[in-house]
Amino acid sequence: MTLSGIASVSGFKQGLMMAIFLTVLFGCGGSEITSGGTTATSTPVATGPFTLTVQKDGTGAGSLQVGIGNITTTVNGTYNNSALAKGTQVTLTAVPDGSSDFAGWNGGGCSGTASCSITMDSNKNVVATFNGKSTTPQMFALTINKGISTGTGTVTSSPPGRSCTGSCTATSTSYAQGTEVTLTAIADSGSSFSGWGGGSCSGTGNCLLTITATTTITATFSVNPPTPTFAGHVQPIFTANCAPCHVGSTSGGLSLSVGASYSNLVNVPSQALPSMNRIKPNDPQNSYLLHKIKGTQGTIGGSGSQMPLNRSPLLATDIKTIEDWVNAGAPNN
Ligand code: HEC
Repeated sequence: MTLSGIASVSGFKQGLMMAIFLTVLFGCGGSEITSGGTTATSTPVATGPFTLTVQKDGTGAGSLQVGIGNITTTVNGTYNNSALAKGTQVTLTAVPDGSSDFAGWNGGGCSGTASCSITMDSNKNVVATFNGKSTTPQMFALTINKGISTGTGTVTSSPPGRSCTGSCTATSTSYAQGTEVTLTAIADSGSSFSGWGGGSCSGTGNCLLTITATTTITATFSVNPPTPTFAGHVQPIFTANCAPCHVGSTSGGLSLSVGASYSNLVNVPSQALPSMNRIKPNDPQNSYLLHKIKGTQGTIGGSGSQMPLNRSPLLATDIKTIEDWVNAGAPNN
């Protein structure tokens, strides 16, 4: 076979293959291609009808409004219309539901979030993206003020943000709604924390708040009273309440007279319960005298009556004075 022989035989085949190639290239534009002939004579022009598909994407939800002429259709799922004549104007509007935002259009010549107008001159595929609303939490101020305090201390917050020391006149910090904040008050040495005021806080423990509104909390610190001394505060209680019985060693072997009392009390085993000292420095729980004046001697294996015998119990403030002195180490001062 010669080369020219191949060319003459395959002339028709070549033309047919070109027609198939152009059909693939131009999709449905086949009518402009000479059919059954041997050549493609011109570029095809699409006449329709065309298909418009609008699909939804994203984490949110919403509907589509498809306007054609005077008719607007609300579409909840995918929109698919394959019968749109060439030149048809379609207006697409995205309507996000209450918990979504419309993020925008893609494809078919549409972009942005405003309504999109399409002129049908080919098949078009548009994607509408709806995303779940991004919620920006509301912020509320938390202010901590120092109450009418004589003492000083520090308030810290967790999560951090609010902290005030010394005079504690606070600038406020903002927290997102629903934030759980724990406030802790720590008194300076020589002061005690007297308690919270405002918000849902009370008492002297940690303050747990859930921020739901602008909140003002007051922290009050007070100066500790001076530590009682033995001669100045404790002995006068004995002298006023325990004489005349505790003179010498007549009552329970215990003298509470001025000059004798200290050496009868501190680190001295009690007569009724020798396993426990009358006063154990720093340890009121294991000081028998404190049980006797509180009337709890029976609960720890002691005996006899609450002191002072046959009289009203000591005032709570006097008991506390003795206890504070014990807690301070029961010094002979
Ligand atoms: C009316 C007399 C009377 C008065 C007042 C009195 N006591 Fe007593 N006290 C006694 C007698 C009697 C005992 C021994 C019996 C007993 O323990 O009940 C005793 C026992 C005690 C004991 C136990 C001693 C030991 O080693 O077992 C203590 C402690 C004590 N008294 C403290 C006091 C104190 C403190 C006061 C004052 C706040 C006081 N008493 C007031 C009569 C008195």
